[in-house]
Order: sequence, then structure tokens, then C-alpha cells
Amino acid sequence: MEAKLAAERIEKLKKEIDYHNDLYYQKSTPEISDYQFDLLLKELIELEKQFPQWLSPDSPSQRVGGTITKDFESVTHKRRMFSLDNTYSSEDLIDFNLRVQKGLGTTDYQYFCEQKFDGVALSLIYKNGLLEMAVTRGDGTSGDNITANAKTIRSVPLKIKTADFPDEFEVRGEVVMPISVFESINKAREKAQEATLANPRNATSGTLKMQDSAVVAKRKLVFHAYSFLADNGRVESHSKGIENLEKMGFYISPTYKKCDAVEEVLDYISLWEKKRKTLDVETDGCVIKINSVAQQEELGFTAKSPRWAIAYKYKAETLSTQLLNVSYQVGRTGAVTPVANLKPVHLAGTTVKRASLHNANEMERLELRVGDTVFVEKGGEIIPKITGVDLSKRKTDAKAIEFLSHCPDCGTALLRKEGEVVHYCPNEKACPPQLQGGFEHFIHRNALNIESLGPETIKGLIDNDKIRTYADLFSLAFEELNGLAFKMYSDKKGEFTSRRLQEKSAQNIIESIKNSKATPFARVLFGLGIRHVGKTVAEKLTAYFSDIDSIAKATFEEIEAVPDIGGKIAESIIQYFSEEENITLIESLKNAGLKLKIDPSESTQMTSQLLDGNSFVISGVFQNLSRDELKGLIEANGGKVLSSISSKLNYLIAGENMGPAKREKAETLGIPIIIEDDFIKMISK
Ligand code: IVH
Repeated sequence: MEAKLAAERIEKLKKEIDYHNDLYYQKSTPEISDYQFDLLLKELIELEKQFPQWLSPDSPSQRVGGTITKDFESVTHKRRMFSLDNTYSSEDLIDFNLRVQKGLGTTDYQYFCEQKFDGVALSLIYKNGLLEMAVTRGDGTSGDNITANAKTIRSVPLKIKTADFPDEFEVRGEVVMPISVFESINKAREKAQEATLANPRNATSGTLKMQDSAVVAKRKLVFHAYSFLADNGRVESHSKGIENLEKMGFYISPTYKKCDAVEEVLDYISLWEKKRKTLDVETDGCVIKINSVAQQEELGFTAKSPRWAIAYKYKAETLSTQLLNVSYQVGRTGAVTPVANLKPVHLAGTTVKRASLHNANEMERLELRVGDTVFVEKGGEIIPKITGVDLSKRKTDAKAIEFLSHCPDCGTALLRKEGEVVHYCPNEKACPPQLQGGFEHFIHRNALNIESLGPETIKGLIDNDKIRTYADLFSLAFEELNGLAFKMYSDKKGEFTSRRLQEKSAQNIIESIKNSKATPFARVLFGLGIRHVGKTVAEKLTAYFSDIDSIAKATFEEIEAVPDIGGKIAESIIQYFSEEENITLIESLKNAGLKLKIDPSESTQMTSQLLDGNSFVISGVFQNLSRDELKGLIEANGGKVLSSISSKLNYLIAGENMGPAKREKAETLGIPIIIEDDFIKMISK
């Protein structure tokens, strides 16, 4: 065939294949058989092989995969991927509605209800209408670049169907494995006497991480789009975004509903709690979102999740089995968790042998006795839990279970702080699991990132008395490590074995400990493991206080004044720095050369000090600047952005659709309300 004819045939085939793909995935009304579809695809692939000049990145042939990715590159999300707060009852949902009402200062808003698809969240980046990159959620800040695998998913458009779209935009959704696909894979595996897949979500997650995209292509995953994000060409409502996504060629599950009031939302939930069993996809709840984008922005986010959306989780599956005994686990923070050991039972795709009992209150509430028949519940990723006892089956002589009085690992008497439900082992600095857990946290990828040290080596170093505090790591010498003997317990063998640290490993450890001294301040702070100071909180604290001494000196009120930092966190920080040992540790870390202040190169590039000492709250939608741009300008000029209005605030920057409650509060407190233009004037002096 000559090149010109080939080009025409290729174009025709691409259109035809896209058309049938669309019928199959978007409309569920196929006109041709799978076999006929495969023939068209085969012809296209052959022609593109002969005439590679006509092969384009949006060709449906790109979906058959074949690319092998060794290690997935880690990519920082342009917009953070938040998670959702969960609720489990209509009362919780009514409370959420009241919070929304209060936050917006009006009852004039709509909800958009969707199913919560139980799969893997994925972010798709489109540039000029073409799929550029697909990134998994990861920790919400960065994830894995799995573009080659995502391209094999037929409901992920390689090219946008419409002509009207922003230059750059992001589509988020959930990749799921249809139940029918999951079942047929497992049937085949059973036949081949291979291990079966646990559940569709695990199967999806495992598939997306496969190195060979040709295998991914065969797994028939489906992408359910649920959010559209763009800086330019934004939409005014979530429903408009969903409508556009559908026109662009994305698959939108027809299970959504726009609701005017919380009662309608509750009806939606009770309808789908039953009806979900008819879907070919696993769902574990509903997601309820505020429809107006301006109102979403007004409500904003907490450190972890949006205030404008919530997940309602369906009731979990329950079964009953026998309680054999209770054992206790000591965590990194010293919290002691009782664990029920159960007679193995099959539930929601996995075998359950153990269940968390949470704390002593929970044990008292259940009044557990050895040998009781208990009800076990498992939902989504939650560890199975015991919800009740079948009293009719209790034996008369069954022995009551009392909570442990001493730490199972170090023998220290356990404590229970007033008002708290959890028992703690107070031997923080020497109790083995606490020491071990603390070190594991300190060397974690998100903290000091000391890659060459793993849990086993840490244990060996603790057992050999080489490390007691984090600072000890920095004075380890090669000679001490080379040939060091470790005792390890092998779960499989059920016995201790011995091993020696090799020269190369010892060198690597010394090298990576040395390199870790360049870790930015926020990650060092996170690594200290102060209770309630997670990664995001650490970043907020370092951006505000800029060095460790200022944090150590800060009062409760000063810490609480940091945006998004609440009383519980402030209290824990005060407690941490009130302990002599911690102050000594910080000094030793400083002496070891760790970064305990912000490096000027890490902080926001300063353009001026014009706004020095002034704080701002941003509310509503603006004509020329996005909220992030406004925030950036405030910080670059020395100002601070706060999330709520208090008497300490200097300015409220008001945009369109700002809620009346905010305006009223600012007016009552006499805080100047300015508009975008006033602000621009302030910084253009
Ligand atoms: S919206 C900022 N909608 O649930 C809110 N999420 O815990 C972003 N999910 O990571 C999420 N179905 O993986 C949204 N219809 C839906 C969803 C959904 C499933 C997952 C998603 C997310 C998690 C939140």
C-alpha cells in the first residue's frame, strides 16, 4: 500500500476503533463483537508498523501496552490529592451539613452525591488535549508515574473528544477492576492451581504496579472519572465539570445525583446501600460534595481533607467466630493495643485470624470472656474489629479478661492518662518496640531518608547497644559496624539465626547517614516523632517558625496561631520540649550538623518585606488571580495567610461569592475588608 493510502486507512481505523470503544465503555451499547474489534485493532497495528511515520501518541494501538517500566518515577502532584473524612451514620452526616451551613452562612447550596468506588485513585494530566501523564495518589503529595500502564485502560482517553478545553488540566478518578473481570481471573487461577487474588481493590493496585504494560492491558481495568481541575478555564460547579468530562470522552458512572437538601442525600445513601450490589464494581460508600466551586473554595481544607466533601461508609460485612485469647502490641508511641486472636474465618475476600480491640474501654464495653463467640466486622481497608458477643453461646465457666497491667516488652507498669482511653508504656526511651519504632520513623523516606538502614539493622544496632538516641547514629564509626553480629528471629523457622554486617553494607550505612545531614528542616522535625506532628504539620511549623529554638520557646497560643494547627498538636509540642532529654537530643543533633532551621533557599523567594507583620484571610473567587497566586504573593512579600478570622487578623481579602458569615465576623471585629485591586496596590509600591 502506498503511504498516502495507508495514512487515510489509519485515520479511518482510528476513528472507527474510538467509536466502538466509546460505545462499549461510555454507553455500554456495543455494535460489534470483541473479535471484530480486535481485528480492526490488529489491522491498525500492522499498518502503523509498516508506516511508522503515521503513528501518533493518541492512536488506540497504544493501548495494547508492551512498554516495560523497571522503577516507576516519583512525581510531585501539581495539586495535592487530599483524602476524605469518613462518616458512618446519618447523625454524622447531619452534623456535617450543619458545619457546611455554618461555614457558608447560608442554606443556599446543593450537594452532588456519587458512589465511592473501591479501587486506586489516579491523576491524569492533559496538555493540549493529549494525555501527558498518569500518576498514582501515593501519599497525596507525590505518587508513581504509571503512564504506560494507564494508557492501556480503554476508558482513559488518550485524546480529548471535544474542541473546547484548557491548555492544561487534570482529571482525577478511581481505577477499578470490574467484579466480573476479578471473578474470571480467579476462576482461571484456580484452574491453574495458582493463588487467587484477594479482592478487586488489591488486584487493581497490583495490576497498576506491574512492570509489563502488555499484562496490564489484559486485565481490563476501568477508570471512573470524578473530578476536573484546571487553573484557567475553571468550571463554576462540580456538576458542570462532570458534564464536561463526559463530553470529553471520560466514563462517568451514571450513579450520581444532585441533591438540594440533606434529607435527599440520606435517601440517596439508603437507595444505593442496597442497589450497589447490582453494580459490576465494588463500592464502599457514597461521596457527598458541595456542588458550587466558589462555595467549595469558601469552605476550604483541613490539613488532610476538604471541608466541602465527606464520605459516608456503608455498613461492613459481619461474621461470627470464636475468641481464642487476647494479646497486646506496643506501638511506636508506646500505645498498647489489645489484639483478639480468633479461630480463622473467611470474610470479605481474606482469612481473618486477628482483630483489633482498640483499647481497654472497648474490652470493657464488650465484656469479653475467653472462648466467647464474637461478631467480626470488616470494611474496606479497616482492620477487622469485634463488634459484639453472642451471649447465647457463652459458656457458664468462661473466664473474664482483664487488661494487662505491665508492658509485655519491657515490664514497665502501664499508664492511662486522665481522660484518655489508651494505656501507654511510659518507658519511651528504652522500651524496645518504642525505640525500634522511633528509629524506623526517623530513618523513613519522608524523614531523614537513611535508605541503607532497615528495621533489621536498626534492631541489631539497638540489641548491640550501639544506638539509644537518634543522635547516636551520627557518631557511628565504620569499624564499629563492619562485621557486627546480629541475632535475628525468623518467623518462618521460629528460631534465632545469626548474621554479620558486611563491609559494603557498613560503608553504605556510614555514607547514607552522612548524606542525611542535608535533610531539610521540616523533614528532620517530622523525623523526631513528636506526637501529632505529621509531615504536613511539620511543614507548616517550619514555614512559620523557621528554626527549632523558636518552636521550643513558643507558647501554646503562639503555636495554635499557626494556620491549620489546633490545640491537640500545640499541647503535644509543648509537652515534647518540656522534657530535658528531648532538649539534649536536639542539641546533639545540632552538633552532629543536622539542619534545624530553614535554609534560605528552601523558603519562599522573597520579593519584598512590604507586608511584614500583616496577616490576611482570603475568601471567595477573584477576577485576575487564583487563590494560590494570591497566597504566594502575600508570602513572597513577607505577609502571612491565615485560615480563619480572629481579632488578630489585619486584612480580609474579599472576592466574589464570599459567604455573608465571614463578612459579618470581619465587620464585627472591625477588620478592614479589601478587594483584589487594593491588595495589588499594597504590593506595587
Ligand atoms: S473525591 C478531595 N470522589 O476516596 C476529595 N473520591 O478518601 C477527593 N474515591 O483518594 C476525592 N470514589 O481514591 C472522590 N466519587 C469519588 C470517589 C473517591 C472513590 C476515593 C479516592 C480518594 C478517596 C478519599
